[in-house]
Amino acid sequence: MTDDVDDLRHAAAACRGCELWQAATQVVFSEGQAGARLMLVGEQPRDREDRAGEPFVGPAGRMLDDALEAAGIPRGTAYLTNAVKHFRFELRGKRRIHEKPATGHVVACRPWLEAEVAAVRPAVIVAMGATAARAVLGRPVTIGEIRGTEVESEEWADARVLVTVHPSSLLRLREDADRRAAFRDFVADLRAAAELAAIAGGA
Ligand code: URA
Repeated sequence: MTDDVDDLRHAAAACRGCELWQAATQVVFSEGQAGARLMLVGEQPRDREDRAGEPFVGPAGRMLDDALEAAGIPRGTAYLTNAVKHFRFELRGKRRIHEKPATGHVVACRPWLEAEVAAVRPAVIVAMGATAARAVLGRPVTIGEIRGTEVESEEWADARVLVTVHPSSLLRLREDADRRAAFRDFVADLRAAAELAAIAGGA
């Protein structure tokens, strides 16, 4: 497999590693370039991302943008990707309802993540949410128990790993006070990642 990110994007467009390509509009590979010190891994593209072909351009992406800004991390300096590169959904009438990817989808997509890490060579990988954590750590974890500090991992020789919540979990909180508190915690986790990666603004 190539170690050039653009070549990977190109190759992934033809991926048939699981069945999700059949119903999805297109593969949503990543945003960012080799050399980014911070790699942020989400779950999978949603409706908006599936249509646009770009990760984190919908509501969860806006939440992530706000948190990155609050943490002093310019989005353009990070590499953004997902554990699963096609949108999994259930059709209800005309609506496409997000469905969590199964472990089999995460496993089928793992070679892409491995190739991305090899190409980008990030200093820190941030897994956002349980699916991303499963993909990055190769095992299921409880986010609340390990979030915000470096996680021991033998999966990646040269990158340190940190786990946090998925930005869409903040969108599900109904009370403003809960959402504000969750946002603060999310920003603190991103700052911790930036400090680990020694990115300006993260200090
Ligand atoms: N958008 C993405 O690209 N990934 C997610 O995990 C959620 C929204």
